[in-house]
Amino acid sequence: MKEADLKLIAGSSNLPLAEEIARYIGIELTPTELRRFSDGEISVKVADNVRGSDVFLIQSTSYPANDHIMEVMLLVDALRRASARRITVVTPYYGYGRQDRKVEPRVPISAKVVATMFEAVGVRRMLCLDLHADQIQGFFEIPVDHLFAAPVLIQELKKRALQNLVIVSPDSGGAERARFFAKQLNASLAIIDKRRERANEAEIMHIVGSVEGKTCVLVDDMIDTAGTIVKGAFALYENGAKEIYAAATHAVLSGPAIEKLRSSPLKEILLTNSIKIPPEKILPQMKILSVAPLIAEAIVRIHDERSVSSLFL
Ligand code: R5P
Repeated sequence: MKEADLKLIAGSSNLPLAEEIARYIGIELTPTELRRFSDGEISVKVADNVRGSDVFLIQSTSYPANDHIMEVMLLVDALRRASARRITVVTPYYGYGRQDRKVEPRVPISAKVVATMFEAVGVRRMLCLDLHADQIQGFFEIPVDHLFAAPVLIQELKKRALQNLVIVSPDSGGAERARFFAKQLNASLAIIDKRRERANEAEIMHIVGSVEGKTCVLVDDMIDTAGTIVKGAFALYENGAKEIYAAATHAVLSGPAIEKLRSSPLKEILLTNSIKIPPEKILPQMKILSVAPLIAEAIVRIHDERSVSSLFL
């Protein structure tokens, strides 16, 4: 049998990232036609032959998540009916990932619902970046490669040669991630004991670890409304931190995020382009790092059936 060609297809959520991935790999994006019917329903067409191909569909299921998920579903159906040999969905940001367990009676596990939908329509592999929780991999029966943006963020932090450094997790759930950063940067670790009363609202209780007179880097998987990171930054400031930075993979930046970040004590905010950030949301203190080389390298290795684990640092 002929070897399957590698093809890249972009959903509409983050075209600049998909184009950068394609440039890195050295192939063109397979053209698609994405339109809306008059009533708002999504219309898709894959505009080139994909028969027998190894297709990677790149789509962050970010805001508007429902539309972007539906686009994936329709594109995968189109690819399957067009006889693509294997369809891998690449989600630089996996939406609905935070609803990953039953936190109270009669609520869904939305991250599992999305996984079930993707599999049902014909997805055969997943390539994800910084899933909100590792266990989301287990919501799929198909193989899931899970990349981390930590090497990209850590490399950038190393350039600053920050002294007297403490890596801070803004909540207990992120302690493992922060510990990894601290180890790589030869820094100490602090954890903020955060209690959340309602969704998207954060309350700081106290800081475990010493931050007085130190340079602090708050590390998180995402900044959504910025409540967590900004309250964390103020708590560090009030506890005598000298300088405060933030590093997060996913720039969800919804609701009051930009205003909060603008008036926060954060000196610099490192983010990645896993989600396309509209220009009006980019603040002078933000630095956006590209995850395109990391994702492109993983795609090539998956296509060639080589290990991707060395990309994990
Ligand atoms: C929480 O578990 C996550 O890791 C983030 O800390 C949280 O989702 C950020 O949300 P927000 O920016 O709205 O506080």
